[in-house]
Amino acid sequence: MELVIPLNFTIETARCRLRCPSIDDLPYVISATTYAGFNDGMQWEPPTNVDEFSEPLAENLRGWEMGELFTFTIADPVSDRLIGRIGFRRTNRVGVWNLGFWTHPEDQGKGYMTEAATAMITFGFERLGATIIEASYALWNKASRRTLEKVGMRLVRYIPHAFQKRGRWIEANKMEITKREWEIRSNR
Ligand SMILES: CC(C)(COP(=O)(O)OP(=O)(O)OC[C@H]1O[C@@H](n2cnc3c(N)ncnc32)[C@H](O)[C@@H]1OP(=O)(O)O)[C@@H](O)C(=O)NCCC(=O)NCCS
Repeated sequence: MELVIPLNFTIETARCRLRCPSIDDLPYVISATTYAGFNDGMQWEPPTNVDEFSEPLAENLRGWEMGELFTFTIADPVSDRLIGRIGFRRTNRVGVWNLGFWTHPEDQGKGYMTEAATAMITFGFERLGATIIEASYALWNKASRRTLEKVGMRLVRYIPHAFQKRGRWIEANKMEITKREWEIRSNR
């Protein structure tokens, strides 16, 4: 399937608008990364100075246009302020997309990621032609685990050496939801 999702494509949820990232998000992205422990559950390491933030943004836009990477800013629909980020990366297995996300620490625990991830999963199955959506979380990351469970994912396997943080291996669990499971869950 050829994937053409225009850069101005948005996903509306009850409280958020998911839209393509913009340079205006950077102060909020930088602010999120300054909270202690914010990056510990993610493979991504934030740049150390403001100039380096522009390359990940360019990579997101390139990946979007190539149909390989769809990173959305979760924004307040009125102020357009960034609440978080959520994205799909195409894997090397046909029809399998990997989901990743974060919520700005000031907006965590308000149900935003459950809301955004639910909408993204619909986008993945309906627009990206996904057959399986997968995600991984560091074993200690209870918030991520709970979010993935709430959107219908189930455990696939334990990964003892998932990624490294500060030179130490982090253990993780891989979760997934199939298209059929999502259809049953959402009465489609
Ligand atoms: C994981 C994360 C995205 C969740 O975002 P969020 O917007 O706070 O999620 P929600 O408010 O939708 O909450 C989802 C569930 O997680 C639970 N939860 C939130 N924080 C929690 C915590 N610290 N410990 C245990 N459960 C937690 C919520 O209570 C909710 O479950 P419930 O409805 O049964 O009570 C957020 O904690 C985050 O950005 N963490 C840092 C980055 C990160 O680790 N990303 C994931 C990498 S895999």
